[in-house]
Amino acid sequence: MLKFPNGFLWGTATAAYQIEGACDADGKGPSIWDTFSHIPGKIERNENGDVACDHYHRYRQDVALMADLGLNAYRFSVSWPRVIPGGTGAANQQGLDFYSRLVDELLARKIRPYITLYHWDLPQAMEDRGGWGERDTARAFGEYAGLMGRTLGDRVKDWITLNEPLASTTAGYVFGMHAPGKQDPLLAFQVSHHLNLAHGHAVRALRATVSNSHVGITEVSMPIYPASDSEADRDAARRYDGVVNRWYWDPPLRGSYPADVIERLGPLAPKIEDGDLELVSPPIDFLGHNSYSRAVVKDDPTSLLMGATPLPQDDKPKTEMGWEVYPDHLYDALTRITRDYNAPDIYITENGAAFHDAVVDGTVTDPQRVDYLRTHLTAAHRAIQDGVKLRGYFCWSFLDNFEWSFGYSKRFGIVYVDYPTQQRIVKSSARFLAEAARRNGIE
Ligand code: FCB
Repeated sequence: MLKFPNGFLWGTATAAYQIEGACDADGKGPSIWDTFSHIPGKIERNENGDVACDHYHRYRQDVALMADLGLNAYRFSVSWPRVIPGGTGAANQQGLDFYSRLVDELLARKIRPYITLYHWDLPQAMEDRGGWGERDTARAFGEYAGLMGRTLGDRVKDWITLNEPLASTTAGYVFGMHAPGKQDPLLAFQVSHHLNLAHGHAVRALRATVSNSHVGITEVSMPIYPASDSEADRDAARRYDGVVNRWYWDPPLRGSYPADVIERLGPLAPKIEDGDLELVSPPIDFLGHNSYSRAVVKDDPTSLLMGATPLPQDDKPKTEMGWEVYPDHLYDALTRITRDYNAPDIYITENGAAFHDAVVDGTVTDPQRVDYLRTHLTAAHRAIQDGVKLRGYFCWSFLDNFEWSFGYSKRFGIVYVDYPTQQRIVKSSARFLAEAARRNGIE
């Protein structure tokens, strides 16, 4: 039995656009995902999040199910355009009331809420004014954070400013597969700086509005391994790591951008004003760590991606996303962040897997997901033994949901959702996590 430290949190994570539905209910304004998902050809089978898991209307049953499973924490995100439809200006009381009711329901069931303020659904009204390409958007984000702090800060202490700036930047502004669907590397790096400013403004707003606030940011980590021991491949891995990991971790944790990446970017490097580096790096209480897999790269001078190319790991086990199952990446990433960044407390704010699920006689048995969770928790436990201050584990995800450009084709939930009826079916992975939470450990 691998025991986790006392007080360890066992939860799941979700994001507003992926589960809430109710896309225009009760005064909600549109987000860039409402717009993007309705453009034909952007999403598999042209699906969208209009209804999703209808969590907006079913949150009570969903929280009850979490409580039945004995989970003691829940990470969810607030939809900015639900609470401020125009991005700035008047708040939408009905939107605020929804999150207030959700929080009360969680607290009544002894589930600790962790709120993410931005999980990719920028108000469309902000996008119309230039979106994350504008510094003003970062300031507006700070005001929105203050509104949420004033509204929920009496009950919610745990706040995450941004989810995965890497994904917002690369999927949204380089590859164009996420909203707002741009392919503009120059803009992308400027956007990544504005997201860091937004984080800084939000931390300050939360400190000012929430007593005893406990604030962090969630970054994704993708450990990079060289394809061979050659000097060239090792250097390629270092460069690639620079642009996928250090570029995002350094600003909030060190107040700097990695010099080697800035140099390589040349004219693509963002404009940084005086005082920005202090603004992006206020002290935080924890780092949220999303981690699914790794990349193995080789030196390739023709590659635009820092002269490095990821190699397909053909002979390795993969999830339905095509992501390699390699649990050691979690140990490597957690120990590395602790070593290189003198990291504060860490939470795994996402980890999980999509596999094909089938309902048989009303039940869903998902041994591959159970195995994924068990092996990754084992790696996390090993990291704790070696000194990592890991305080909790949020499995992605509570429910099957709208997996961005993949629509509903990829199921990450530990609870199955039958979309036509919105019926929830507890998978065996949920029972596994429930047992881990009950014993505060795994076999
Ligand atoms: C993460 C996202 C989350 C979900 C998982 C599979 O990058 O934060 O919303 O899509 O991947």
